[in-house]
Amino acid sequence: MMFGDQLQKGTALVVGASQGIGLEFVKQLLKDDRIEQVFATYRNSKSATDLFAFEDNAKLRCLQAEATREADIAQVAADIAAQRESLHLMVNCVGVLHHGELQPEKSLRQIEAERLLNYFQINSIPTVLLAKQLQPLLKKSDRSVFATISAKIGSIEDNRLGGWYGYRASKAALNMFLKNIAIEYSRKNPQTTVVALHPGTTNTRLSKPFQRNVPPEKLFPVERTVTQLLDIIDRLTERDNGSFFSWDGSRLPW
Ligand SMILES: NC(=O)c1ccc[n+]([C@@H]2O[C@H](COP(=O)([O-])OP(=O)(O)OC[C@H]3O[C@@H](n4cnc5c(N)ncnc54)[C@H](OP(=O)(O)O)[C@@H]3O)[C@@H](O)[C@H]2O)c1
Repeated sequence: MMFGDQLQKGTALVVGASQGIGLEFVKQLLKDDRIEQVFATYRNSKSATDLFAFEDNAKLRCLQAEATREADIAQVAADIAAQRESLHLMVNCVGVLHHGELQPEKSLRQIEAERLLNYFQINSIPTVLLAKQLQPLLKKSDRSVFATISAKIGSIEDNRLGGWYGYRASKAALNMFLKNIAIEYSRKNPQTTVVALHPGTTNTRLSKPFQRNVPPEKLFPVERTVTQLLDIIDRLTERDNGSFFSWDGSRLPW
């Protein structure tokens, strides 16, 4: 049976919901009649004003969390557990490609250990903390989905161009975490389907500096990206546990 068929009175959590793909997930889930409650995390009130604009919607609960900190993730799990019996859908949209001094490396000359660590801290580690802290809540629902927005560029097999060391490697590490989580959950949380999702190049802050050579038809508005990803999520079955999906529903090599 497909996941979407069982979403009546569902509870969803969107991590990294202040802007971009995460914010659009919140918008579309708020409109979805099957979902009764949407929890949305942000780390900084200053960059979350677009999210706060939806706070008068009774379905939405905004929670502050720095996704790299386990104590914050544990608090998110506790806040959800205080209000809901279980969690049906978790989508982690936290990610960084560039930020101030942090820029994707074109060659080995630009490698710096601190910056590499920063990529791993933000792009890889939050997902495994979420898997640890949300396991009991995901287990309490008949069917649940644990998804993280990864990137095709993190596929080792698909890497033909090189470059962007930190971003690529942190997404490859994220992918390995997801595969591992899928294996452990298949034994302990068999009702949870764990997936990595590639959104396609999407018009957000993250892709802005790199859009020049992207043909317009390959640069998706966030609305299209999230509609496509929610469609994939809806159609997931237990057999998809541990898969890496592209925006068009095709499977990507890890
Ligand atoms: N856009 C694309 O073309 C594209 C392509 C492939 C994959 N992706 C992936 O899609 C995901 C979403 O990216 P996006 O395009 O929506 O980018 P975005 O608009 O820059 O949004 C990134 C989100 O991550 C949050 N974030 C960053 N560091 C955080 C931290 N330490 N703790 C908590 N939240 C943190 C940001 O919060 P603040 O607002 O506070 O900074 C923001 O909500 C990322 O994983 C990205 O790698 C995007």
